[in-house]
Amino acid sequence: MSRRNRALVALLTKIPRPLVWMFARNYIAGPALDDGLRVVRELNGKGCRATMDVLGEDVFNEAEVRAYVDAYKEMIRRIVEERLDANISVKPTAMGLKMSRELALEAVSEVLDEAARHGMFVRLDMEDSSVTEATLRLWRDLRAKGYERVGVVLQSYLRRTLVDARELAAEGASVRLCKGIYIEPRAVAYDDFWTIRDSFLDALEVLLRADRCQVGIATHDEWLIFHGRRLVRELGVGTDRYEFQMLLGVDEFLRDLVVAEGHPMRIYVPFGEGWHGYSIRRLVENPRLAAHITRAVLGLGPRQK
Ligand code: FDA
Repeated sequence: MSRRNRALVALLTKIPRPLVWMFARNYIAGPALDDGLRVVRELNGKGCRATMDVLGEDVFNEAEVRAYVDAYKEMIRRIVEERLDANISVKPTAMGLKMSRELALEAVSEVLDEAARHGMFVRLDMEDSSVTEATLRLWRDLRAKGYERVGVVLQSYLRRTLVDARELAAEGASVRLCKGIYIEPRAVAYDDFWTIRDSFLDALEVLLRADRCQVGIATHDEWLIFHGRRLVRELGVGTDRYEFQMLLGVDEFLRDLVVAEGHPMRIYVPFGEGWHGYSIRRLVENPRLAAHITRAVLGLGPRQK
């Protein structure tokens, strides 16, 4: 992290909550489940599916894991009750993955049981590289227990990703492919912008070529979206096997263009009391987001290339 970015992050952590909210409200539905459901309803009205995620602070004990499991189960029930087109994402560390593999397996299984009752799909988000292996193992353990409607995420900045993509392709996985958000050491992750793009396309092609794979193309990078569309067309992949995915509040203009072309689009909708900690943590993890925040707070809109 450069000294300038570190100084910027230090500054941003001191910004009062209402001001952080000025930026965060573009990317986070609100503090309550009802906020998330309202945003999902609006998105469904615009032809977008959604993925809901409960935000929160780090989990340190089993009681906190329990609270997350209950929150996810409640969210599943409300999505179904309100007949929304949405599924859910869970953070494996919020399910206790850093405390114990068994605890996480049990907690995610409980969420998956509730989801299965309603035929809902659940994705395991991918966090930093200290848990990549454990997260993939958790997904395989869940599959071995018979859960079918559960997917994972691959990050194209990781040097291991092409190998993982080949393995997951052979296993017929549902994979969300994204660039990756965390600051990682050079030993495990590419740093170069174009290498990360190339790695994204390599992994995407492997996944799209695998007939049993479902693929979420999660990016706002118009160049990658362009090549994603090209690959889908050239490989003859049906709309039942792929979708584009974007984050709430990011480049809605591009989102609407992709939807108007008839491609399936899913929007990631985070909500929850933990929005402040989440926003600050995202900043510390990736100070490049600081530029987006600064621009949003100053009312400058997205950076033009
Ligand atoms: P890039 O960063 O190059 O951005 C492309 C364009 O979009 C730029 O113009 C940029 O300014 C703009 N942009 C991107 N992010 C923005 C933001 N937050 N605010 C404003 N403008 C923004 N990561 C991870 O490690 N694990 C995960 O599980 C997930 N899950 C996930 C789900 C979904 C649906 C998406 C879309 C993304 C993720 N990510 C993620 C985040 C992902 O790894 C990545 O950090 C962001 O998507 C940004 O990368 P882009 O591919 O958009 O390219």
